[in-house]
Amino acid sequence: MKIENPKGTRDFTPTVMRDREYVEKTMSNVLEGFNFEKISTPIFEYSELFELKSGEDIKNRMYTFDDKGGRKLCLRPELTASVARMFSNELRNLPKPLRLFYFGPMFRYEEPQKGRYREFYQLGVELLGVSGVFSDALAIYAACECLKRLGLDFELQINSLGVVRGLLEELGVDDKVSGKLITLLDEGKRDGVKEVLDDEIFGRLIKISGGKKSLGEAEKVLKGFDKALAALSELRDLAILLDSAAIAYTIDFGIVRGLDYYTGTVFEIRVSGLGAQNQICGGGRYDNLIEVFGGPKTPAVGFAFGFDRVCEALILQSKLKPPEKKVVVVASVSGKSNGYALKVAGELVRNLSESKFIVDLDVSGRKLKKTLEQASNTGLGWVVIVGEKEEKEEKITLRDMEKNSQKTVTIAEVVKLLTSF
Ligand code: HAM
Repeated sequence: MKIENPKGTRDFTPTVMRDREYVEKTMSNVLEGFNFEKISTPIFEYSELFELKSGEDIKNRMYTFDDKGGRKLCLRPELTASVARMFSNELRNLPKPLRLFYFGPMFRYEEPQKGRYREFYQLGVELLGVSGVFSDALAIYAACECLKRLGLDFELQINSLGVVRGLLEELGVDDKVSGKLITLLDEGKRDGVKEVLDDEIFGRLIKISGGKKSLGEAEKVLKGFDKALAALSELRDLAILLDSAAIAYTIDFGIVRGLDYYTGTVFEIRVSGLGAQNQICGGGRYDNLIEVFGGPKTPAVGFAFGFDRVCEALILQSKLKPPEKKVVVVASVSGKSNGYALKVAGELVRNLSESKFIVDLDVSGRKLKKTLEQASNTGLGWVVIVGEKEEKEEKITLRDMEKNSQKTVTIAEVVKLLTSF
């Protein structure tokens, strides 16, 4: 009986996993370089964790279920709320700021299409316990650096929810209507906004986008709205920081993010060519979330990559190039030397695992001639041959498949030789 995997999920073959591991490692290296430390939280959580502050959109897409004890649980749709919970319960007393990152599957009940899955992966970052645009700039810089390290071309868009929300507040718009507007904007439906709020100033603001001069345009539109102007001034400070750090960006006052917890700077990263699902990263400042879970008032900023989309974008731009590993085959001449072959393979793995070699112990039991033939056909460089003679001498015979020559040496000598390549 053939059973398919559930709609919106995928199996990852060894070749795909090799690419994904490379992308994950490259990004993790960048983040660790910036002193972010990896954490892990449960795949399922109490539903209320996400119902409290993640927003209607997420709530409607959650996989919820009751366990045998009648507890209301869900598969995690994102991780910022989990990190906020973890911080409130376990990390609140550590020196701040805390720099954390995570990688793993998230679950949202969506209509699957290219780049949109029901089980998808995020690699995310949370910087907790620090306010102000300097830390926003660090989060943005780290996100961009991850993508640059992978060689990906992308576009960064920034905004401040303080500007958008500040204006709505000063216009006297109630929270419910504000929420509706934010959802419409997040769905890219800027033209639908007028039906919910027919306000000329708001309509003009959300259409402003472009380089730094859009700050000036917004300033003119927002004249007299002091709260929005104060947030705009912070956005200007962020822009100046990014300029100094040579990070290219577009300011777009229509970028608002769909989750409810954002309070200040927000940003998104897009790539061209991915169609509708071109947003590969989203994040921003959320200064009030930790209090919701009983923690002390703790400002925070973070982001998450849509990891699957990053991988798809890399393929699209022909940039997914994990370093090739060379294979060393270990073959025993006869069944009598299988035990020694296993020992040799083990020693090689121990000594070569950090380098660019993979050790492939031939356990097929076929004739040595066949193994050599196959190694030659698949273009392998080296075969380690062991027989009774080698076992007695505690040596191995290393065959160079390209030069068609071989010599008998100690394992230490093989390791030295191979690591010199
Ligand atoms: P988000 O925008 O909901 O933010 O998700 C972040 C990224 O995950 C999106 O930009 C997108 O690339 C990817 N993504 C979302 N849904 C799917 C899906 N169904 N299939 C494939 N990829 C998807 C968050 O989740 C926030 N927690 C980010 C954050 C961290 N903000 C502050 N800290």
